[in-house]
Amino acid sequence: MEHGDPSPDRQVEVTCTVNGTARRLRVDPRTTLLDTLRERLELTGTKKGCDRGQCGACTVHVDGRRVLSCLTMVATLDGREVTTVEGLAEGDRLHPVQRAFIDHDGFQCGFCTSGQIMSAVAVLREGHAMTDAEIREAMSGNICRCGAYPNIVEAVKQARS
Ligand code: FES
Ligand code: FES
Repeated sequence: MEHGDPSPDRQVEVTCTVNGTARRLRVDPRTTLLDTLRERLELTGTKKGCDRGQCGACTVHVDGRRVLSCLTMVATLDGREVTTVEGLAEGDRLHPVQRAFIDHDGFQCGFCTSGQIMSAVAVLREGHAMTDAEIREAMSGNICRCGAYPNIVEAVKQARS
């Protein structure tokens, strides 16, 4: 055991659903959802950018609402439903937002893209992305260092229609 790890009896047990599959996890209470997804569950579509709540690259859904997984402790997720970008498509059929990002080249390097897509799906569900300005405002927590913003807005508009 590495220095600083809690003893096993200080770990907590969490049962949650990830992309439709029930998962039972024993975790250090300080473990983030982001690290659990990437390192325990091998769901690496969710990206670690800043790891401090400032870039949006780690956006996933909990009970259908977007959250920053780098700021979400797994210990708080008992009984909750987590969806990552890997859980959006239905078999070979892409989610309309995924399709729209491809149609409009809504990415360049792709590092921010899973977070952008998860945010866009939630924004459309929330129903307050009617104008370009509203889309930009609602998506403002998702930073794109490649500056793909105009194409991202077009993608959100296509998926909305
Ligand atoms: S990695 Fe979570 S907001 Fe940047
Ligand atoms: S596509 Fe490169 S950071 Fe957004």
